[in-house]
Amino acid sequence: MSRIAYVNGAYVPHRQGAVSIEDRGYQFSDGVYEVICLFKGKLIDAGPHLDRLDRSLAELSIPNPYSRAALMTIIHETIRRNRLSDGLVYLQMTRGTAPRDHQFPEDTRPALVVTARYFDFDQAAIKAAEGMKAITYPDIRWARRDIKSVSLLPNILAKQAAVEKGAYEAIMTMPNGLVTEGCSTNFWIVDQTGLRTHPVCPDILNGITRSRIIEIAKKEGVPLNESPFTVEEARQAREAFTSSSVRAVQPILTLDDHPIGSGLVGPITTKIFQSYQRFLKTGVVS
Ligand SMILES: Cc1ncc(COP(=O)(O)O)c(C=O)c1O
Repeated sequence: MSRIAYVNGAYVPHRQGAVSIEDRGYQFSDGVYEVICLFKGKLIDAGPHLDRLDRSLAELSIPNPYSRAALMTIIHETIRRNRLSDGLVYLQMTRGTAPRDHQFPEDTRPALVVTARYFDFDQAAIKAAEGMKAITYPDIRWARRDIKSVSLLPNILAKQAAVEKGAYEAIMTMPNGLVTEGCSTNFWIVDQTGLRTHPVCPDILNGITRSRIIEIAKKEGVPLNESPFTVEEARQAREAFTSSSVRAVQPILTLDDHPIGSGLVGPITTKIFQSYQRFLKTGVVS
């Protein structure tokens, strides 16, 4: 079955989907994106993802010409045309096409691309449960990481470094030794204070999965500590994991080849992992 993409008003075969060479996303990374999971026929947290899209657009003064209802129709139609019940919906909106010039163009309509592809969540969860390796990598991103911009060069350099070391994720670190987040995930440790992650601020992306995990921790009575921590504290932690919409809760067993805690998936991580899987299946944190 050939894949279908939504590109600026038309549903087209994926391979034929194209945008102008003067699209500002292509020229300047002048755009934002979201990835929403489709799990067993249901979109996971579509509302919060589209809220974050609106926020990212507003922070960049890109006017969103699509109503929430119109976006949802496009997303559902893209899913339907690709006959998916498990997959990833990718949505990218840029400032649009205009002759190349740095300042915002006038009267340019933002450009929208929506794609959807199969993703095997069951297989991913089985693999994730075994735990994975992570490395640390300098966080060389700009100062507005709270905006989900398509400008991901530092993130891809970090991910490539991880892959070359046989690791799943690169945990990004500031010159002062503090950890921010993974290059495509939020990062969590379990230490003597409880479950700990970087607070929401412009230094990190406010993950939709992160918010669900906070809800889970509160429900499960796991003490939560939203405060920055150092690489050394992460190395000394009892447990660690990453979170993201695509890879859910991913236990991390080693950081730069140093075992974290026992080097096995820990009890708090297991609790959060299982509870998030339940949320995916039922749509509620229970
Ligand atoms: C840098 C970064 N942090 C965190 C996340 C996790 O966000 P979410 O849980 O909304 O997928 C992502 C996901 O793409 C990311 O790119």
